[in-house]
Amino acid sequence: MNTLLLSAEKEEDIVKAAALIRAGKLVAIPTETVYGLGANGLDEDAVLHIFEAKGRPQDNPLILHISEPKQMETICHDIPAQAWLLAEHFWPGPLTMVLPVRELVPKRTTAGLDTVAVRCPRTAATRRMIELAGVPIAAPSANRSGKPSTTTAAHVLHDMDGRIDAILDGGACEVGVESTIIDLTGERPRLLRPGGVTPEELTALLGEIDVDRAVLGQISNDAVVRAPGMKYKHYAPSAEVYIISGSSEAAAKYIRKRFSAGDAVLCFKEELPLYAGCNPTAYGSRNDALSLSAGLFAALRDLDTPEIKTIYARCPEGGGVAYAVENRLKKAAAFRVVDAGADA
Ligand code: TXA
Ligand code: MG
Repeated sequence: MNTLLLSAEKEEDIVKAAALIRAGKLVAIPTETVYGLGANGLDEDAVLHIFEAKGRPQDNPLILHISEPKQMETICHDIPAQAWLLAEHFWPGPLTMVLPVRELVPKRTTAGLDTVAVRCPRTAATRRMIELAGVPIAAPSANRSGKPSTTTAAHVLHDMDGRIDAILDGGACEVGVESTIIDLTGERPRLLRPGGVTPEELTALLGEIDVDRAVLGQISNDAVVRAPGMKYKHYAPSAEVYIISGSSEAAAKYIRKRFSAGDAVLCFKEELPLYAGCNPTAYGSRNDALSLSAGLFAALRDLDTPEIKTIYARCPEGGGVAYAVENRLKKAAAFRVVDAGADA
């Protein structure tokens, strides 16, 4: 299969992408979070091709992307007031809501659950494309299963060239980590995955929320989890990632003492001078969590080479978007965190 490159800046290309979706084809789409691997979410065969192209386990349900909040009603029922409130504040944007699903959505899309994940992305060209397609678009992140999500068209091409019909190139994703997922089907709203919409923003609007245990702890493969995708090893390069916590100086001392050929350092921009001779990669500024989220997956991809066996990584802590960065990096590190302390 030849993968067609389309531009999100050209109306004719958006029209072409929508036509491909209607014809049951696979089109990678830009969003403000990460690229999605899109297909008609109501077409079982098209959805099957998503799983095949990604190499994704079929028990992992997909997010349906809609062009405007009202479209929620076509695929969900018993929508609580909280969902409309969230939609009003955060859509279009990096928030996915889990809601009761209507019967027209195929089991293959929801992995047989009685709920469905819904999101209205911010990227205007993508919403236009969904509107033209006239169907909700099912789209997981457009990476090969187990690899970091893709945040540029070049990353998508790297993982998916020849496996999908087209890529709609919308440039680099601003947020860079996948959407916040909130489950609204239980007694209390439950955060299943942190992202660009922060826990603080959610509590400000909803009051207290639960946080799923998969968010900041490791989940064994046979555990029953609310977001099935959270149990798989994710976002990971081939190297073993270790997070080294502590002050910049203590961490640098710890890492430099152990650094040898085949190692790499992933750090904050401000720490680059501490790693002369260790070929460090910075993924953003310590003081700007959005720069870290935007740069994380691209940096992990850059470090995904056969030569690199161990990555020492520096991880932000705290709330806001940093919480999502911490979650993704800890998952990439299989939750291996070493405290360099004050004196290493
Ligand atoms: O930002 C994003 O959300 C990106 C872009 C493309 O929109 N999409 C994305 O999709 O990250 P994916 O498939 O890589 O991650 C979706 C996550 C998985 O962990 C999946 O298990 C969970 O959402 N999920 C989907 N449907 C669910 C449901 N009904 N209940 C609970 N979790 C669900
Ligand atoms: Mg994914």
